[in-house]
Amino acid sequence: MGRLLDKKYIIQETVKFVKKELSGAETGHDWFHIDRVWKLSTRIAETENVDLFIVELGALLHDIADSKFYDGNEEIGPQKAKEFLKSLEIENNIIEHIVNIIRNISFKSSNNEQKFNSMEFQVIQDADRLDAIGAIGIARAFNFGGYKNNEIYDPEIKPVIFMSKEEYKKSNTTTINHFYDKLLLLKDKMNTEAGKNMAKKRHDFMEKFLYEFYNEWNGEL
Ligand code: ADP
Ligand code: NI
Repeated sequence: MGRLLDKKYIIQETVKFVKKELSGAETGHDWFHIDRVWKLSTRIAETENVDLFIVELGALLHDIADSKFYDGNEEIGPQKAKEFLKSLEIENNIIEHIVNIIRNISFKSSNNEQKFNSMEFQVIQDADRLDAIGAIGIARAFNFGGYKNNEIYDPEIKPVIFMSKEEYKKSNTTTINHFYDKLLLLKDKMNTEAGKNMAKKRHDFMEKFLYEFYNEWNGEL
C-alpha cells in the first residue's frame, strides 16, 4: 500500500504543478483564473455538503490543458490531471471523480448531454462560470476577442445562440455578441444558492456595462 500523503501537502504540490503547466498560457486561462476559481469554489463549498479536498483539486486542475490549444483534443486535460494525481498516490476513486469533473466542466459540453454529475462538480462549475461574468468576465472576454482579432462590436452582426459544440468552437463573432451567446445566459445556469446570488450581482454589472456601452457607441453619453 502506498503511503497516504497529507492533504495540505497535496494541495501545495498541485498549486506548484498547475503554475508550472500554465506558465505562458494566454491570460484568459492563466494561473490567476485558476486561483480565482479555486477561491470561489472554496467559498461556495462552505455552503454545501461537499468534499472540500475534491473541490479544491478539481478547481486547481480544471483548465490544466485547454483543448483550444491542443487541436481540439479534449482528453489531454483529464489525462494530464490523472497522471499527476497518480504520481501523488491518491486513491483511485478520488482520481476518477476529479477526472470526471475536469472532463465535464467546460461550457461547451453543457450543450451536449451531460454524462457526469456530483455536488463537487456543481460547485466548481459555478465558480468557473462566475469568473466568466462580472467585471472579470468582461475583461476576459475583451482580452480573448483581441487575441482572436475579433471586432469589439459591429451593429450589423446580430448575435446567435449557438446550438452545437462545433458551431460554438468555430464562431468568430464580435466580443459584444459573446455576451448574448454566453455571458448573459450563465446566471440562469448556476447550480448552488451561493452561486446564484453571486451571479446575480455580476450579471447586473454586465447589464449596466452594456447600457453604457451602447449609449457611448451612439454618442449619447
Ligand atoms: P471556460 O474557461 O469556461 O472553458 P472558454 O475557454 O470558452 O471558457 O473561454 C475563456 C474565456 O474567454 C472566458 O472568459 C470566455 O467568456 C471568453 N471567451 C470565449 N469565447 C469568446 C469569444 N468568442 N469572444 C470573447 N470572449 C470569449
Ligand atoms: Ni476555467
